[in-house]
Amino acid sequence: MRTVRIEKIVNENPRVKTFYFKDKLCQNARPGQFLMVWIPGVDEIPLSVSGVYPNGLASVTVAKVGEATEAMHKLKQNDLIGVRGPFGNHFEISGNKFLLIGGGTGMAPLAFLAEKLTENPCEITFVIGAKSAHELLFLERVKKALSGIKSKVMVFTEDGSFGSKGLATDLLESLLKEENYDVIYACGPEPMIKKTFLIAEEANTPLQASLERIMRCGIGICGSCIIGKYRVCRDGPIFNSRKIRKLIDELGKYKRSFNGSKIGILNNNKK
Ligand SMILES: Cc1cc2nc3c(=O)[nH]c(=O)nc-3n(C[C@H](O)[C@H](O)[C@H](O)COP(=O)(O)OP(=O)(O)OC[C@H]3O[C@@H](n4cnc5c(N)ncnc54)[C@H](O)[C@@H]3O)c2cc1C
Ligand code: FES
Repeated sequence: MRTVRIEKIVNENPRVKTFYFKDKLCQNARPGQFLMVWIPGVDEIPLSVSGVYPNGLASVTVAKVGEATEAMHKLKQNDLIGVRGPFGNHFEISGNKFLLIGGGTGMAPLAFLAEKLTENPCEITFVIGAKSAHELLFLERVKKALSGIKSKVMVFTEDGSFGSKGLATDLLESLLKEENYDVIYACGPEPMIKKTFLIAEEANTPLQASLERIMRCGIGICGSCIIGKYRVCRDGPIFNSRKIRKLIDELGKYKRSFNGSKIGILNNNKK
């Protein structure tokens, strides 16, 4: 574990902050990889790398949901955190016409991915979902990344306070009927990922999705992140269509708590 100093903190929305720090190993992080971040005296939690910048900085983007993330939100510039990683696999780039679909803090690795994809000529449709206008994440960053290429950005909010009212997956079926995409990249709530998977399968379009489970070691030893026959930290967090087919009995239905028992995942995105 390396100890790093927080160089800058940006409030992205009332629930989400981005923390910037300098770290050599993180300079090589690829979109989709994650860090185990130690909040001193509190806990260590998995967080996706949300960006790597030419000035030696890297970032994580954190939603306040419980004890560790609340403690992290209280940290100030110059405070210290510990980082291990980057761990896990990353989104694989193949082709040149992509559809990205992100919900909530799932936007963190996808905004980073959009910046990487646009380093080469490509065409991108980006669908962003959030509960409300206040919870929208990285819309301006995405628009900036896509400004030099043929692109389309579509925003959905559940309460209709910005963009179209509804879920990010609402137009997916028709988008895939209108156009052929080389890959769909997805990150967000598991019901969103499951619905995206089912629609992608019908359209015969390859999917790469980031999955989440409880993590402790981050390196394939402890078993707390098991999904089906996989360990999310070592075999993921990015799962392609072939692997997701093997997880269909579990995906979007249940996950494991810290003591290993099953907890249901609320599915309000039924197909
Ligand atoms: C690979 C990966 C990447 C992630 N990237 C991000 C990110 O970029 N930004 C972000 O805000 N969040 C991300 N998360 C989720 C983040 O790890 C949890 O929100 C955080 O651990 C919650 O800790 P807490 O103590 O604040 O909340 P708790 O009170 O512990 O729990 C709140 C919720 O978070 C879940 N959770 C708790 N601990 C973990 C854990 N160690 N691993 C996974 N889920 C947990 C619980 O099941 C519960 O639903 C990621 C998770 C994984 C597995
Ligand atoms: S977090 Fe320990 S095996 Fe994945």
